[in-house]
Amino acid sequence: MKPIQEAARHIHRADTVVALTGAGASADSGIPTFRGKDGLWNKYDPRELATPEAFARDPVKVWKWYLWRRKKIAEAQPNPCHTTLAWMEREGILDAVVTQNVDGLHQRAGSRHVIELHGNIWTDECTSCDYERTNDPEAGEGLEYPELPPKCPECGAPLRPGVVWFGEPLPPDALLRAQELARECDVMLVIGTSGEVRPAADLPILAKSHGATVIEINPSETALSPIADVRIPQRAAPAMEELRKALEEA
Ligand code: APR
Repeated sequence: MKPIQEAARHIHRADTVVALTGAGASADSGIPTFRGKDGLWNKYDPRELATPEAFARDPVKVWKWYLWRRKKIAEAQPNPCHTTLAWMEREGILDAVVTQNVDGLHQRAGSRHVIELHGNIWTDECTSCDYERTNDPEAGEGLEYPELPPKCPECGAPLRPGVVWFGEPLPPDALLRAQELARECDVMLVIGTSGEVRPAADLPILAKSHGATVIEINPSETALSPIADVRIPQRAAPAMEELRKALEEA
């Protein structure tokens, strides 16, 4: 049986299905991944751009990089990976998307139950008070500011992008909910992640230890491939289009 058919069979039989997505899920939207051939971390040093220390050292440089990423994301469209996951949710096949991505493309594709483990690049967070606001890229918000770093409208302190930087804790409620789903699910669909970054990468292991079937969609082998029950060695967009067809025929 072809891996896609096997995956569809497991999903069809499952009560609870959860997807864990990484940067590879947005690669077919033209958004660069972090690792691998054209990965962002091959060109940029995360210690200079994606840590609290980097922001304290040079908030303007960090903001310029995030505004560059926001612009690329605003110009991008959800791809069939995002739209198929949204379709699966509407059909009652998928319970939630747990994502490491901060681009908001799952929501733009129509997914409603999205757990953002690493925050959302469109959110501005105050570094001092609890002010935060999520910009709407479709309304052209959050792409430019009169000054950098932008200042909190409540207390005047610098705002920062609402993403989780290296060395920072994940939003506790998001992580707890993701771990709960990993324990409960019958199938975890792991799409486009290298499985290099914890605690996100622990979720498929947690799911597997609770009896879930792990299905990996990734053109390359990853740190999670050894625990995958089904591997679909393809790009996410075409694989998810094929999976939708197989599920519709099931
Ligand atoms: N379809 C599916 N997978 C793809 C595609 C594609 N079109 N293109 C690349 N991939 C795979 C790569 O083979 C790789 O395994 O996507 C994965 C991307 O891995 P990373 O760049 O490491 O992204 P991710 O796993 O999401 O990184 C986790 O690291 O830098 C931090 O916070 C950042 O959320 C990110 C975290």
